[in-house]
Amino acid sequence: MSSKVPIDQLAQHIGEQVELRGWLYNKRSSGKIAFLEVRDGSGTVQAVTVRGKVEPATWEVIETIGQESSLAVTGTVKADDRAPSGVELVVEAIEVFQAVEGYPISPKEHGVEFLMDRRHLWLRSAQQHAVLRVRSALQKICRDYFYERGYVLFDSPMLTPLSVEGTTTLFETDYFGRSAFLSQSGQLYQEAGAMAFGKVFCFGPTFRAEKSKTRRHLTEFWMLEPEIAYATIDDAMDVAEDFICTVIAQALVECRSELDVLERDLSALEAVQAPFPRLHYDDSVKLLQEAGEEFEWGDDFGGGHETLLSKHFGKPVFINRFPARIKPFYMEPDPERDDLVLGCDLIASDGYGEIIGGGQRIHDPVLLESKLEEHGLPREPYEWYLDLRRYGTVPHSGFGMGLERLVAWVTGRPHLRETIPFPRTIGRLEP
Ligand code: 4AD
Ligand code: MG
Repeated sequence: MSSKVPIDQLAQHIGEQVELRGWLYNKRSSGKIAFLEVRDGSGTVQAVTVRGKVEPATWEVIETIGQESSLAVTGTVKADDRAPSGVELVVEAIEVFQAVEGYPISPKEHGVEFLMDRRHLWLRSAQQHAVLRVRSALQKICRDYFYERGYVLFDSPMLTPLSVEGTTTLFETDYFGRSAFLSQSGQLYQEAGAMAFGKVFCFGPTFRAEKSKTRRHLTEFWMLEPEIAYATIDDAMDVAEDFICTVIAQALVECRSELDVLERDLSALEAVQAPFPRLHYDDSVKLLQEAGEEFEWGDDFGGGHETLLSKHFGKPVFINRFPARIKPFYMEPDPERDDLVLGCDLIASDGYGEIIGGGQRIHDPVLLESKLEEHGLPREPYEWYLDLRRYGTVPHSGFGMGLERLVAWVTGRPHLRETIPFPRTIGRLEP
């Protein structure tokens, strides 16, 4: 009897008869010998069929089935040094679950919109498959990083009456006759968690009605947000730096075969080593101006500025101490300059943009009240948040990392739309 073995484990079954269950990815036939590329989700393998060595009915099936036909293949595993999997399968029998004709995504080039409209199928192609496996691995690596260092996973709600990152990107929804928003960031709730548990993190979807079309913005994206009691902005940068270095190093080991499929330049990722430069906002302005950019003190960075800064240093770079007027209400003012706040952004290397945003939070209750008012935010929904400053307030800091930006960086995808199974952007709600 043949045993069912996933393709990525075939190398441990050389000489044995096995059964694979999967889909036909590609096919070449000379009329005498047919090479079927079969995928099963864990990998792909070449299944070789020789006419006359299988039942005539089986040969006929092979001649007619098209791409993405679902099938079970029984055959003997043979070592093959030239194959990426190290093996091939010599076919003895094939059972077809569904013979498919006219699969819409052929190996020829398609436009991105065509592929995005068929995202539910496009996911099966080798490159998309590799990107999403990296995403899956990165989520685990990121979670484990915080679990292993004593953080408590503390989930923030998705429905909230609060705005965190400004009111212009809120998705509003009816909540039994009241107005609610989809969460822009779990941060404010993490602050409650930090006061209860010391070190917490959340990792979930967040929503922003981003009205501009850019390759770095989705309207639904996943954010990992640690929050730490008794921590300063410098502590937050220390954690972010060690976190990113650890995650990238681990991805280089664990995602090696996927990065090979994607032809990612590994040396770019190997160069991600601490320490990362920590650039004062004022100095970043000077640097941009010297590079000939039209950038005034007080401006926020655009994608081009971020790319320029990261290329200048050749490694990830922190920008810290931003003008208060371009940052949210909760940021602690710089004790040395009242026009600045203790915010920090981490710009990824090679032009993958801002990957982390964070900093130190206001801990003084009176100052926080005045900032809410200054930013035109209603007092009542933030009463509980003010309680955190009334009862045992301490300096605390944290940050948020965008998962899709991390996946784009690690996999070398220029556009975030390929880094999540079903991307949501201003122009796309389907599939
Ligand atoms: O810089 P942001 O807006 O920071 C916050 O939301 C803080 N409340 C986080 C915190 O301190 N707990 O967002 C954090 C990160 C960005 O650096 C970026 O990686 C990602 O989230 N991000 C987006 N990713 C995809 N699409 C978007 N529209 C994004 N907006 C932010
Ligand atoms: Mg930001």
